[in-house]
Amino acid sequence: LVDGELKKWTGQTSEVYSTISSTSTYQKTLLGTIPTLGETEALDALNSAVKAYDKGQGLWPTMKVVDRIACMEKFVEQMKTKREEVVKLLMWEIGKNLADSEKEFDRTVEYIYDTIEDYTQMDRDSAKFEKHDGVNAHIRRGPLGVVLCLGPYNYPLNETFALLIPAIIMGNTTIFKPAKFGVLLLSPLLEAFRNSFPKGVVNIIYGRGRTVASPIMKDGRVDVLALIGNSKSANALQSVHPKSNRLRMVLGLEAKNPAIVLKDADLDLAISECIAGTTSFNGQRCTALKVLYVHEDIIDEFNKRFSEKVDALKFGNPWEEGAKLTPLPEPDKPAYIQELIDDALEKGAKIINKKGGETTENYIFPAVLYPVTKNMRVYQEEQFGPVIPVMSFSDIEQPLDDMAESNYGQQVSLFGKDIKTLAPLIDTLVNLVCRVNLNSSCQRGPDVYPFTGRKDSAVATLSVHDALRSFSIRTFVASKDN
Ligand code: G3H
Repeated sequence: LVDGELKKWTGQTSEVYSTISSTSTYQKTLLGTIPTLGETEALDALNSAVKAYDKGQGLWPTMKVVDRIACMEKFVEQMKTKREEVVKLLMWEIGKNLADSEKEFDRTVEYIYDTIEDYTQMDRDSAKFEKHDGVNAHIRRGPLGVVLCLGPYNYPLNETFALLIPAIIMGNTTIFKPAKFGVLLLSPLLEAFRNSFPKGVVNIIYGRGRTVASPIMKDGRVDVLALIGNSKSANALQSVHPKSNRLRMVLGLEAKNPAIVLKDADLDLAISECIAGTTSFNGQRCTALKVLYVHEDIIDEFNKRFSEKVDALKFGNPWEEGAKLTPLPEPDKPAYIQELIDDALEKGAKIINKKGGETTENYIFPAVLYPVTKNMRVYQEEQFGPVIPVMSFSDIEQPLDDMAESNYGQQVSLFGKDIKTLAPLIDTLVNLVCRVNLNSSCQRGPDVYPFTGRKDSAVATLSVHDALRSFSIRTFVASKDN
């Protein structure tokens, strides 16, 4: 979708295969093809966004708030009619189970409505005048320019739209490139984008990052880089921009969220939350629990019950009832997870659950590894997949020191009962991460809450409310009493 047109593509295409099959034996299923775009098409998309923004004088950045909202409402109404198609593609392309795929769609629709509401409130607030020291001010928020959005494969709809929707509604013009997996599911929505917004406001292109995103950044006319993914891609794209130090960035990056289970924790609750935190969508969430610290007094009991519960999780195709574990979209992921397991075993850990490490071609059953130590790759790397490192601690300083030392700082889960122990710990933890989940696993939602991270985990904040601010700048008109 470039310059308001769904371009017919006559060049080379890439095939999109499903990672899942309708039988229990794995086989690749061709789902469709996507154009293999190159630099020329990427720059066409950039030119279209630049033209539509027209240095802030274009139709979209100067449009009245109510009219921009009307366009967004038109879009979301049309989007809702595509639910079944998009949900099916979410299951087939990235292997997300039915309940979570439906949730992703519905959450995205809700996100758009919440954005419209917050934007309406922002507009109401900007109608108020402020007065300080004899100077009256009419403060409002304006767009930043051209935004390049890159979304992740694990939430190809929801997280992508958490960038795209606020960027659009604030009056910016956009170029969006989906991740390698979860591409076809945008096709049913292209027409809705095309006929809801003026041409050039939303441009959607397919292709490899280095082929299409790099030339766009190198050109120097992108004002905002919005990316959810990994630091390597973010750094590479930032570095080729000729004014990289002036570039606004909205980034959601890696995390290694720990759970800390204190000795007085409600063990049933801690175990079920740690199961959800480590295994939902096979651990392919930036908010997943990626290392568990359990007090040494309860470690044996925890390991026994936790492992049994992991083994009881059902593996199946995404539409099968009760399937919690599903095939992995990245073909190399099982081998990578196996490497982490082998490294941990070599350095003294054991797989403590019966089914841990069992593989099929596109899956590896979550291995619970214990005792994990800091020299192991599974501790050092963000696994983003089904493997669960467990460590025990005697002194709370140990997990706290590890968190302070870590390059990441998104969230933590803390399990315990005694408020006298918890209160000072919470005070310490909020300065190490951005969200402390008390007796619950880590998560991003509800989307009205700030979603961000310290250190290498994020740049800027992405709640409904904050994202509108991340994609805009405060401007004002001042007048004196005279
Ligand atoms: O991959 C990172 C996502 O932001 C996780 O979101 O906590 O809603 O699954 P979630």
